[in-house]
Amino acid sequence: MILYFTGTGNSLAVAQQLSVATGENLMPLSAAANRDLGAERCVGLVYPCYDYNTPPAVRNLVERLRLNSEAYVFVVVTCGAQTGNSIYTVRQILKKQGVEVAYSHKIRMPDNSAPIFGRNPNDQLWKLEKYATRLDTIAADIKVRRHGHHFAAPGLAGWLAGLPAVERKLLGGFCPTVDESRCVGCGTCAAVCPVGNITMEGKAHMGPNCTACLGCLHACPKQAVAVGKKTITREQQYRHPKMSLPDLEQR
Ligand SMILES: Cc1cc2nc3c(=O)[nH]c(=O)nc-3n(C[C@H](O)[C@H](O)[C@H](O)COP(=O)(O)O)c2cc1C
Repeated sequence: MILYFTGTGNSLAVAQQLSVATGENLMPLSAAANRDLGAERCVGLVYPCYDYNTPPAVRNLVERLRLNSEAYVFVVVTCGAQTGNSIYTVRQILKKQGVEVAYSHKIRMPDNSAPIFGRNPNDQLWKLEKYATRLDTIAADIKVRRHGHHFAAPGLAGWLAGLPAVERKLLGGFCPTVDESRCVGCGTCAAVCPVGNITMEGKAHMGPNCTACLGCLHACPKQAVAVGKKTITREQQYRHPKMSLPDLEQR
């Protein structure tokens, strides 16, 4: 079973490819959190890195997983460049539940936070080709139940970014708002939000549980979603090229 969390499709694309290569079924992490997965002999977790650490929503969902301590558990993190402590944090959460992560790796992908810094994730599509062979290696490793950790060592940046007050400040700065004058109430943002944080009452309204995935920012057909004072252009909006909007509806 491969469990995924995604904002713009990178992690879902990786999870899908691993699912095809290994024959393991796919499930959104949010759907798995309330089930007994004790019968699963192989469980993979695929999710993005946010601010050198694990997205809060992923942490919360992993805390609620019920896995078999005998299962072969692996983690693959997608990131723009650095995984920070995003693998370590999940390993520690599972360890407390008596579950060892046997194998972990990372895949570099277009950075979906790039528009906040004035850059375009669509200029980074070369990463998809460059890291495709790594995905083949990871799939081959999983099939033979290989053990080993890559890019999993904890570091100071990830530790600092994970301090609750720092995390609130950093990720809070990425939580989008809706420009009501541009919003046409189409509901696309609510449909793709992986934590169900957006409600539609004529226009879109953000709730208090944003995990800063930026899925809504990238999916809005009217570019009505902004981060702070930053709106992004249609050209800067990103979704993994093999993913459709309905693919991103993960609840
Ligand atoms: C709020 C936020 C913070 C991010 N922080 C990092 C980071 O610390 N390091 C990194 O390499 N990429 C970072 N990224 C980029 C994502 O990890 C990367 O684009 C990932 O593949 C997105 O996956 P998704 O499409 O499945 O949501 C960040 C993205 C967001 C939205």
